[in-house]
Amino acid sequence: MLDMTRIPKHVALVMDGNGRWADKRLMPKMGGHNAGMKAMKEIVKRASTLGVEHLTVYAFSTENWKRSAEEVGGIFKLIVVYVDNELKELNENNVRVNILGDYSMLPSESVERINKALETTKDNTGMQFNIALNYGGRDEIKRSVQDIAKLVKAGEIEPEDITEDLIGEYLWTGKHHADSPDPELIIRTSGELRLSNYLLWQSAYSEFIFTDTLWPDFTPEKFEECIEEFQGRKRRFGGR
Ligand code: IPE
Ligand code: IPE
Ligand code: MG
Repeated sequence: MLDMTRIPKHVALVMDGNGRWADKRLMPKMGGHNAGMKAMKEIVKRASTLGVEHLTVYAFSTENWKRSAEEVGGIFKLIVVYVDNELKELNENNVRVNILGDYSMLPSESVERINKALETTKDNTGMQFNIALNYGGRDEIKRSVQDIAKLVKAGEIEPEDITEDLIGEYLWTGKHHADSPDPELIIRTSGELRLSNYLLWQSAYSEFIFTDTLWPDFTPEKFEECIEEFQGRKRRFGGR
């Protein structure tokens, strides 16, 4: 049974397996991404209902540019479709949308829809929905270091003032951007046992759940099972 008093505040998802889901059905890859978007819609709703305060999804990595122009373009087009279909309901559910990553190089139509989603939901006080888009953990740490280096160069801080907290503040999840705590739970679907450059800094003490389920088959019930498994974990943070 889920303990509703111990729902993790921040859950992060690696939505992997869309391609294999499509392959199994002899479909083009985009059929898998489309099904993946539908699965994501349901997880967002359930997470919000359960009282998850921050939900982060890995939608496109800094390495995903290696894919064909057709697939990359198709994924960015799906963002347009998602906002057009879902923004009203997200807003009604008091969800606040945030982007982790520099999305300015996406096609203008996608940038425009993202800006609309950010603007429409910016004052909402319910679940914060972070979409990691053109996101890479190493890129994020590099950017934080660059921002802090500028402060040092300008004489605003001394090198000794650089703390772990300060580095965290300039990450996409930090207080200058999305302002989300570190995820207690990271779930990756499709059986791959790796992080693929996701939330490298923030995952220092996260609990991990890897499931063989391909992302389009990941249901709200399976999401709840993962939270239940998380609730059975003993977290020690290095202590006794
Ligand atoms: C994850 O599914 C979605 C994105 C990376 C955008 P994949 O497309 O990586 O699916 P597999 O890993 O090929 O099955
Ligand atoms: C991670 O999945 C990125 C997203 C889910 C957006 P990938 O499919 O890109 O990761 P690798 O290539 O298997 O490591
Ligand atoms: Mg994959």
